[in-house]
Amino acid sequence: ELHRIPHPPYRIPVIGDVIGSNVRSPLQDSMRFGRQLGPIFRRRAFGKEIVFVWGAELAAELADEARFAKHVGLGVANLRPVAGDGLFTAYNHEPNWQLAHDVLAPGFSREAMEGYHPMMLAVAKRLTDRWDRERAAGRAVDVPADMTKLTLETIARTGFGHDFGSFERSRPHPFVTAMVGTLTYAQRLNVLPAPLAPVVLRGATRRNAADMAYLNRTVDGVVAARRRSAGAGDLLDRMLETAHPGTGERLTPENIRRQVITFLVAGHETTSGALSFALHYLSRHPGIAARARAEVDRVWGDTPRPGYDQVAKLRYVRRILDESLRLWPTAPAFAREAREDTVLGGVHPMRRGAWTLVLTAMLHRDPDVWGADAEAFDPDRFDAQAVRSRPGHTFKPFGTGARACIGRQFALHEATLVLGLLLRRYELRPEPDYRLRIAERLTLMPEGLRLHLEERAPAP
Ligand code: HEM
Repeated sequence: ELHRIPHPPYRIPVIGDVIGSNVRSPLQDSMRFGRQLGPIFRRRAFGKEIVFVWGAELAAELADEARFAKHVGLGVANLRPVAGDGLFTAYNHEPNWQLAHDVLAPGFSREAMEGYHPMMLAVAKRLTDRWDRERAAGRAVDVPADMTKLTLETIARTGFGHDFGSFERSRPHPFVTAMVGTLTYAQRLNVLPAPLAPVVLRGATRRNAADMAYLNRTVDGVVAARRRSAGAGDLLDRMLETAHPGTGERLTPENIRRQVITFLVAGHETTSGALSFALHYLSRHPGIAARARAEVDRVWGDTPRPGYDQVAKLRYVRRILDESLRLWPTAPAFAREAREDTVLGGVHPMRRGAWTLVLTAMLHRDPDVWGADAEAFDPDRFDAQAVRSRPGHTFKPFGTGARACIGRQFALHEATLVLGLLLRRYELRPEPDYRLRIAERLTLMPEGLRLHLEERAPAP
């Protein structure tokens, strides 16, 4: 039944579709194949065949929760040894998913966000202090590295009352190094045949075990510190203290460990990438940056501490983020499985449990939805009228359905606040020779992005 679905032309027996594939760039390879092969296609590596979907109509069908559900596969499944039955990696049938979802959802309510806001501002101040120093010294800033410091400190402090001291370090915190190690390893496992992986990756497997042990130790330390001290009403408190409102059940210590790792990783890596891509595009589009800056001036005036509501009012800045997440959704794909035997698009039969990968990064470029200029950066695609005129399920950077991102509002509030603060303070100048390169480690990051800062010109 797969035979109707196109695949790359040069298929080598046993090995599969390796021509045009690189272990470092599985997503960008898939995007290229998608452009050649159309809205649904398949790739095979060592007997594993994966079906990819990016056409808007097929993707909308896959968003139907009555017929399809999240599939824990590939990169997500490879993270199970680290994140276990934590929220992100839990199988749909695992009882800890619903339990943790219900216990933690109030931690992402509007009231909760308002509570995190002052802490987010305080962390952003650490960033601007650092960037002020770099600017004064005439040095370019390392955008992904600094955005990662910012987002890690933000989730660690707001969620867990923990300070990694990222801004006081010249090198990434070992937690970040270990996390990048496990994400990269999980991605490598995707592209290698299961029986070969232990041999090919022997050294990497040893390092991965050490990385996982480090993540566990760090998290156990954070939890132990909290058990000794009073609670702060944050995510960790919810994990430790809150019983399920319906059943009275609580998370077990082992599950809490999984949740803390999940939130520390999921809560910063993708947001860091989103901010980095947005800053890249702002540096390349001075007109768009000027318009955003004018909005910040109008909405914030010269208050040194913009309030929660003043962030929500930065509509144009939000569109810049949306547009960055359209072109480079930093979690660039998600998997969907059939709940029952079904036929996708009226032609592709899927058995119960069969799954396909939605290539968000290509869905967001489908010319039928986004037009012939889909590759161009244009935040006005997200003005209210344009959004209304588009079909549903065409913009999915946060996934879909019951298993969509719980941290969406958290990420958008944090990122809008930070972009507002940076736009207000600096003019962003690109390095003349820089060409956007994408680093892939399950998530996406603009590789080697550095920007020069100038004190901003006074508003006209
Ligand atoms: C789930 C993207 C920020 C926590 C997801 C999924 C996507 C996503 C695509 C669904 C994955 C799937 O279907 O397999 C993003 C992006 C972010 C972001 C692009 C930033 C721009 C955050 C933040 C947090 C977070 C800030 C926490 C504070 C989670 C969790 C899940 C999740 C726990 C699993 C939810 C569940 O299955 O119940 N995210 N995320 N994410 N995200 Fe995010």
